[in-house]
Amino acid sequence: MKRDNYILGIETSCDETAVAIVKNGREIISNVVASQIDSHKRFGGVVPEVASRHHVEQITIVLEEAFKEANMTWEQVDAISVTEGPGLVGALLVGVNAGKALAFAKQKPLVGVHHIAGHIYANRFEREFEFPLLALIVSGGHTELVLMNEHGSYELIGETRDDAAGEAYDKVARMLELPYPGGPQIDRLAAEGEESIEFPRAWLENDSFDFSFSGLKSSVINTIHNATQRGESLNKEDIAASFQASVVDVLTAKTYKAAQKYNVRQVIVAGGVAANQGLRKALETKFGSTHSPLLIPPINLCTDNAAMIAAAGFVAYKQGERSGWDLNANPSLVLN
Ligand code: KG4
Ligand code: ZN
Repeated sequence: MKRDNYILGIETSCDETAVAIVKNGREIISNVVASQIDSHKRFGGVVPEVASRHHVEQITIVLEEAFKEANMTWEQVDAISVTEGPGLVGALLVGVNAGKALAFAKQKPLVGVHHIAGHIYANRFEREFEFPLLALIVSGGHTELVLMNEHGSYELIGETRDDAAGEAYDKVARMLELPYPGGPQIDRLAAEGEESIEFPRAWLENDSFDFSFSGLKSSVINTIHNATQRGESLNKEDIAASFQASVVDVLTAKTYKAAQKYNVRQVIVAGGVAANQGLRKALETKFGSTHSPLLIPPINLCTDNAAMIAAAGFVAYKQGERSGWDLNANPSLVLN
């Protein structure tokens, strides 16, 4: 009989301190997330120094909670996986050092994981992967299309040339004086507004799977500035709806085109912006009648968590990957 593997995951790349225990890469045994959103809210965004300090304060508490929730002991853990990058360097360092210290003290193998691989593997809790698979990753730091031909293999076929989708959401929300994080706020307002303003869509050169959101962002900011200068009142709902329509149009069309080009068997969506209701609806409509089943994780697994890091770590662990004591935080780690 095949033995079960339990992986402990650690995630501290941005503003959530998270620890989880996952069985065989597909079953969540415990999943604890301490969010710092409230601390960063008053600054309107994540303050790296504040994030690092919170991680230091939270990591041991969250770790203990993860074991308590799982009702497990260290003896049952087969390996530790930790996000080594990309992310905020000071924040990553807390998780990486916790992972190394625990691996050393408890004599467990250590596996460094790419944060985006984690977001992709959050979908495997829902359904087993079928390859080739196309992943659309949309988060605060990333907008990427990744092609996977097998477990643990990632080919970048498109990425943003400037802002990430979530970053554009957060910046536009800030202009509309909405609290941080702005994505969910705009999503909520968009549902109440009309797409009355024609904002640009950056399709880029023919056949490019790259993205660009800085032109859209500037266009929204100009619209807000002009209205304010003329003393006109802003219809935030309509601005949100029009902005969201532009983002969703481009994300959906490029994902669809890439899915056809690479003839994929599955399309998965990952990252915080995958929680967006407008995007979920548009993708479901677009892929509804195709042979590429669409997978979008439940909202609590869209945003940063450690279960996804343990799920990606399980695959790397099974493929024999091990990190040494020289494992370091890498803020610009490349997915490959
Ligand atoms: O994946 P994530 O939790 O952290 C990163 O790795 O970046 O993503 C956070 C991003 C933020 O920019 C946030 O505004 C955005 O995801 N977000 C959303 C929604 N929920 C979170 N954006 C649009 N609509 C949402 N419902
Ligand atoms: Zn993330």
